[in-house]
Amino acid sequence: MKKNNIESQILVIFGSNGDLSKRKLLPAVFQLYIDNLLPDNFVVVGAGSQEKDEAAYRVDVRESLSVFSKKTIAEYPEKLEEFLLKVYYKKVNNQQQSDFGILKEYIDTLSEQLSITKNIVFYFSIPPFLYEVVAAHLVQYGLNKEEEGWKRIIVEKPFGYSYDTALDLDKKLHAGFNEEQIYRIDHYLGKETVQNIMVTRFSNGFFEPIWNRKYIQRIEITASEKIGVGNRGGYYDTSGAMRDMIQNHLLQVLAVVAMEPPAVFDSDSIRNETVKVLQAIRPIKPGEVAENVVRGQYISSQIGDDIQKGYRQETGVAANSKTETFVAMKVFIDNWRWGDVPFFIRTGKQLPERVTEVVIHLKPAPHQLFKQLCLTEPNNMIILRIHPDAGVAIDFGMKIPGAGFKVQNVNMAFHYSDLAEKKISEAYERLLLDSMTGDSTLYARADAVKASWKFVDPILQAWKNNPDIPLYFYESGTWGPVESNNLFGDKYVKWRQPFEKFKTE
Ligand code: BG6
Repeated sequence: MKKNNIESQILVIFGSNGDLSKRKLLPAVFQLYIDNLLPDNFVVVGAGSQEKDEAAYRVDVRESLSVFSKKTIAEYPEKLEEFLLKVYYKKVNNQQQSDFGILKEYIDTLSEQLSITKNIVFYFSIPPFLYEVVAAHLVQYGLNKEEEGWKRIIVEKPFGYSYDTALDLDKKLHAGFNEEQIYRIDHYLGKETVQNIMVTRFSNGFFEPIWNRKYIQRIEITASEKIGVGNRGGYYDTSGAMRDMIQNHLLQVLAVVAMEPPAVFDSDSIRNETVKVLQAIRPIKPGEVAENVVRGQYISSQIGDDIQKGYRQETGVAANSKTETFVAMKVFIDNWRWGDVPFFIRTGKQLPERVTEVVIHLKPAPHQLFKQLCLTEPNNMIILRIHPDAGVAIDFGMKIPGAGFKVQNVNMAFHYSDLAEKKISEAYERLLLDSMTGDSTLYARADAVKASWKFVDPILQAWKNNPDIPLYFYESGTWGPVESNNLFGDKYVKWRQPFEKFKTE
């Protein structure tokens, strides 16, 4: 049955007992259910390596939802019971081909018993080395064939480990699935506030005219996290901040900030524009890496009364690891709009705040009439705050009331929280729903993934091959290595210190 443009379907989650599934995916599907956005004929099938029956899996799901959807359950307790009846389970060892035959039979039976068309979304919430394995097993049992309903696969990040491995993975997925069936998820694109960057730019008359090299001096993109790697040390040590955050999330944000307006607002037109940005990023040659990219790693430090572990002391991390937990870099986009405007990108763990924001620094007015009277540096900024306290702020100089012409920077801000009647949905809700309706606008296309790896790969290679490129150590609770300020090449210019509320001073 079709409801809200969404057909009857089955969502199969591989890795259904894992962290992502518990924390994000199941709460997202539950919320979609609460919001009445799922079709009536719909089930979720957990496919995990543990032997258990449906009843046991429902107990697990109840338990994780009671933690990660606590507020929703308090509001709609009866909905939880209804939702759990839509949850099923099949044990699948991802490396065991025959298990996929069993899964297929299970799906066939469910589809028949519950009158659900075999439209299926397969979510790969599994370790990356298994993506191609699971895809091949699905193909083996015809679970890629679309004669009796469409089939889609959602592939989590990281998509590949390098340019070559990403290409190879793509080739292997395409052996059984066409591009329209492959959804490469980047949850940053699912964030309401990232999408709002497009709306801010393209639905207003006053941002776009100044959104270029003539008026913009530099752009900062920061994604800082307060937490360390926690229990993900094993994964993170093979990844590092460049692969974990920059290759995907932050380059996608950069693309949305820098893209040209699409002619129409459809999936291909938007993605055609974002990919052009990624393809236009000026490559950083091995000899230029030390000067343009600063990497860091957090060390043990005292925060209040607590001793915070250093990265190398985290579980699953090698004692002499050189993996970066912080990256700051200077990037240029070689096209007419951006000319020589530098984009500064920064991400790190164990920093003072959890903040993601884009700061557009405008060039100063050509003639500084009030320069001598400014109490603060004349600095016009547009701040696009992705989280927390999502919103948009503009920072500009105003006359201080009273005699004379003293000028001070003031701040005009819109906070999403002011739209009290509208809750901001979680990225995974939006993205899951999009995959269910066949809208891939907010999923990364193969050419975009390829372009971002092409840019990132030489930097990773340089780090690996050149021991002279420093890895700076920084104490937890600081904004990373002070050397990251050298990227600006001007001793008076530093990274903006984001505040919890995004006021500027
Ligand atoms: C994930 C990374 O993709 O994004 C994590 O693997 C990171 O290391 C997370 O913590 C950050 O996402 P968000 O939505 O909390 O900014």
